[in-house]
Amino acid sequence: MPSDERLTRFEQTWVPWLNAPLKTAIAADSGDDRLAEAMSYSVLAGGKRLRPLLTVATLQALGHTVDQEHDWRPIMALELLHTYSLIHDDLPAMDNDALRRGEPTNHMKFGAGMATLAGDGLLTLAFQWLTATDLPAKTQVALTQALAQAAGPSGMVAGQAKDIQSEHIDLPLAKLRVLHREKTGALLHYAVQAGLILGETPREQWAPYLRFADAFGLAFQIYDDILDVVSTPAELGKATQKDAGEAKNTYPGKLGLQGANQALIDTIQAGKAALAELPASAGRELMAAFFSYFDTKRVKA
Ligand code: IPE
Ligand code: IPE
Ligand code: MG
Ligand code: MG
Ligand code: MG
Repeated sequence: MPSDERLTRFEQTWVPWLNAPLKTAIAADSGDDRLAEAMSYSVLAGGKRLRPLLTVATLQALGHTVDQEHDWRPIMALELLHTYSLIHDDLPAMDNDALRRGEPTNHMKFGAGMATLAGDGLLTLAFQWLTATDLPAKTQVALTQALAQAAGPSGMVAGQAKDIQSEHIDLPLAKLRVLHREKTGALLHYAVQAGLILGETPREQWAPYLRFADAFGLAFQIYDDILDVVSTPAELGKATQKDAGEAKNTYPGKLGLQGANQALIDTIQAGKAALAELPASAGRELMAAFFSYFDTKRVKA
């Protein structure tokens, strides 16, 4: 899918590195076989791994070497947490979806009770993995604090709460932007922040990286909303044409496809401008290549 060769090569190197230990590591930390199976099912079903890839890319941009023994669990914690958010997002009481990552959703396969618990397990294991390393205590505390803020009731969960409460209610665009920032942007913000923390970057240098992350996060949900309209389940591995039926607030719903695409283009531009504040480097170019995930030609002029 990414049109940029640099990003494709980066994925080919790092996705196998991220994935290889997963099944064994999840099973080792689970006390019930069926629960471990349900957790692994959704994590191993695929997924682009964009969030841990962003952490690795940030570390590379900072010139930091990534180490399997010390860094793998803290980096993959976010993917566990993200997968939990998808399992719960798909539940009958939430978006009620039957397809995810090209497979039946967790509750279709294991039932709503076990799917709820698989999500609970992945959420909790994420925090265990953040601290299951011999990284300095202050690094572990900073990661834990940042992920809790991004994922919890001031981040992703708040956005999901707004999302379900505002079905059939027409939100002004400014409020929709906040909803998107919380439900999707917060975890992508954390993906870059985790790289800054693991790379021990002084706080006064964080701002351009995080502005990039926030633009990437908003662009990501605008594009997800556009794909819901213009793509297919075969391409995305999840249901499409769902948001309008559920009267969700989306960029295409508010602005039309053209307007949403223009907002996407403007948001990508803002993210690139943030990166331009960093000194030129191969790492900076790699971060910019993440924008190639968004195909702004999907919507015809
Ligand atoms: C889907 O995220 C959920 C949203 C925030 C829109 P991804 O598109 O990154 O899903 P996977 O991880 O590749 O399955
Ligand atoms: C969900 O947004 C974001 C999450 C926090 C999981 P959506 O409900 O639009 O995500 P998809 O389209 O089901 O992946
Ligand atoms: Mg949802
Ligand atoms: Mg959904
Ligand atoms: Mg969606």
